[in-house]
Amino acid sequence: MAMTEISTFDDQQAEIVTAPRDQPDTEVTKHEFAEPDAKTVGDVRSKNPRMIASDVNVWYGDIHAIKNVTLEIGSNEVIALIGPSGCGKSTFLRCLNRMNDSIDVARVTGDISLDGQNIYSKELDPVALRARVGMVFQKPNPFPKSIYDNVAYGPRIHGLAANRAELDDIVHRSLDRAGLLKEVRDRLDEPGTGLSGGQQQRLCIARTIAVNPEVILMDEPCSALDPIATARIEDLIDELSSKYAIVIVTHSMQQAARVSQRVAYFHLGDLIEVDETDRVFTNPRHKLTEDYITGRFG
Ligand SMILES: Nc1ncnc2c1ncn2[C@@H]1O[C@H](COP(=O)(O)OP(=O)(O)O)[C@@H](O)[C@H]1O
Ligand SMILES: [Mg+2]
Repeated sequence: MAMTEISTFDDQQAEIVTAPRDQPDTEVTKHEFAEPDAKTVGDVRSKNPRMIASDVNVWYGDIHAIKNVTLEIGSNEVIALIGPSGCGKSTFLRCLNRMNDSIDVARVTGDISLDGQNIYSKELDPVALRARVGMVFQKPNPFPKSIYDNVAYGPRIHGLAANRAELDDIVHRSLDRAGLLKEVRDRLDEPGTGLSGGQQQRLCIARTIAVNPEVILMDEPCSALDPIATARIEDLIDELSSKYAIVIVTHSMQQAARVSQRVAYFHLGDLIEVDETDRVFTNPRHKLTEDYITGRFG
């Protein structure tokens, strides 16, 4: 009946177009751009999802960088996003904490939730969201401040400590959890930028966890580090996954195999295949995944 059809259509529209709300004239729904041939193989679901991305599309102007991607991020899991350069790994990662908001030409549609709450909702403050979904970048980027102030920065902004003793406690615990406390305990007043690259990256991880995130996004966090510093970060990722959901972009399949429980393989903006890491690396279902992991391209 006509009335039923209309109400279904309205529901879908409301669900599909979530951002950015301030540019309603440029909104596009998946119905106009869907590419039904690119269907993800494997299992995009998680037993215990913390974040759910449904039918996510991202455009940079005319470039369709992410195409109808649906993926669940599980609690206490490490999921690795892999694929050739330019396939959209960083773009998808940035959707998960609305970092694409700051890119003028970027437009995101679809539905992304954190613990059931739409992260593109008008009621949700992106700054508060980024405390809950923290990010660690490729190049360690400590603030030009002391080690202490780097870690205390977020807790201060978000008012997480009632007094200096509480702040000290958060800073110490975060540095400890990031595996850095022993090395810096006696020089918390020294600049964070004076640390080695690996230490700086652990400082950035301490800064991220100081605000009690639920999810940590990491975009090639070891690509500027030597093998020893990389091994330390990988150990740390393993430890942190008991408390946080971790999404890591990596160009190293060895690293994905070492740190992740699930792997998502992207190709030209499509999510081609998702599955348990062992399965993807030993028995990929899709030809494109197989070509990539056997080194035929990428
Ligand atoms: N800020 C941007 N402006 C315009 N195009 C972009 C921007 N960032 C990424 N792109 C384009 O989007 C596509 C996906 O890029 P990206 O997400 O960085 O891929 P990856 O992280 O897998 O290398 C590429 O075609 C890239 O050129
Ligand atoms: Mg990238």
